[in-house]
Amino acid sequence: MYKTKAYAAASPTSPLASTTISRREPTEHDVQIEILFCGICHSDLHQARNEWKAMMPTAYPCVPGHEIVGRVTRVGSAVTKLKAGDLAAVGCLVDSDGTCPQCKDGYEQFCPNATFTYNSPDKYSGGVTYGGYSDSIVVNDRFALRVPGNLDLAGTAPLLCAGITTYSPLRHWGVTKGKKVGVVGLGGLGHMAVKISHALGAHTVVFTTSPSKKEDAHRLGADEVVISRDANEMAKHAASFDFILDAVAAEHDVEAYLQMLRRDGNLTMVGVPPGPMPVNVFNLIVNRRSFSGSLIGGLPETQEMLDFCGQHNITADVEVIPIQKVNEAYERMLKSDVKYRFSIDMASLKSE
Ligand SMILES: NC(=O)c1ccc[n+]([C@@H]2O[C@H](COP(=O)([O-])OP(=O)(O)OC[C@H]3O[C@@H](n4cnc5c(N)ncnc54)[C@H](OP(=O)(O)O)[C@@H]3O)[C@@H](O)[C@H]2O)c1
Ligand SMILES: [Zn+2]
Ligand SMILES: [Zn+2]
Repeated sequence: MYKTKAYAAASPTSPLASTTISRREPTEHDVQIEILFCGICHSDLHQARNEWKAMMPTAYPCVPGHEIVGRVTRVGSAVTKLKAGDLAAVGCLVDSDGTCPQCKDGYEQFCPNATFTYNSPDKYSGGVTYGGYSDSIVVNDRFALRVPGNLDLAGTAPLLCAGITTYSPLRHWGVTKGKKVGVVGLGGLGHMAVKISHALGAHTVVFTTSPSKKEDAHRLGADEVVISRDANEMAKHAASFDFILDAVAAEHDVEAYLQMLRRDGNLTMVGVPPGPMPVNVFNLIVNRRSFSGSLIGGLPETQEMLDFCGQHNITADVEVIPIQKVNEAYERMLKSDVKYRFSIDMASLKSE
């Protein structure tokens, strides 16, 4: 084991603070990465504050961060896909059994033995995994991704969660040119969904509670922007969408969006509000609508997404911050005051 610097929450109510954690020395299949940038996902806040305690209770200390980009510092003897000096990225997963049907099909996120990047039992240390708010990370090479050379690194980090979480359902539900797609919530996930839906050629409509984001939404690629608190504007889109992606982190009226689906339309939740959300079945039986969810994406699709973003020159719009501003960033995220992802410059951790 070796020591590395990190920022951790010690309890659901304590602010994140500087600490030191231990990581394993790379084994023959491992890649050690010096972390350059780590995005801040709303899931980091949900878990640092134990908001998902019913389904995924948080173990403390909790070092969040699963949007990781960095440079390879060491590789094990069996690693061939990366070498020291290469850029590499890590998303929400750092291990899985590699043998179950889900892994064989490239859906490691659904593996019953998947290890998430943080707040997951660590089979090497016997403790819990620690995420990217840290100087370095060590992962099995199956979970280290190649980064296209043309992309800005601070804006690439958020692709590892916000990018894949939106790319995967957009592809799964057949979003292409000629389809009408809604994106609910213009936050970290939402703004990536807009960029990717636009790049796939779909007519893209943003639903936002923040009138101040209207211009940005158009700049990001939206064809139309609807202020979701305006009932008249909402009514104009009744029963017209092929697909709606809901990326809202708080409880809200999801039925308003179900009613906007045309025949065989689908509404997929990627946002994970902590409590249950009631749905009136009448809104599903009419037009044979479906309501579903989606969890990040597997490793093959994550690499496909990174390559797609490289080809289309897509990165997140980021506000780069030092790690010392992480607690302030969490409060701003709760107020929907982020355009559109915080990306932590990890060089700032060296002064701790
Ligand atoms: N399924 C997965 O695999 C997966 C992966 C990553 C994250 N997530 C989850 O996805 C959610 C979004 O994450 P994020 O990082 O994109 O968060 P975020 O940056 O905070 O964005 C959430 C957006 O939701 C909208 N919103 C917030 N409160 C609202 C309310 N009360 N009513 C209606 N809209 C509201 C806001 O957009 P407007 O200002 O435009 O209204 C806000 O910007 C979180 O729950 C996160 O845990 C899921
Ligand atoms: Zn995330
Ligand atoms: Zn598996």
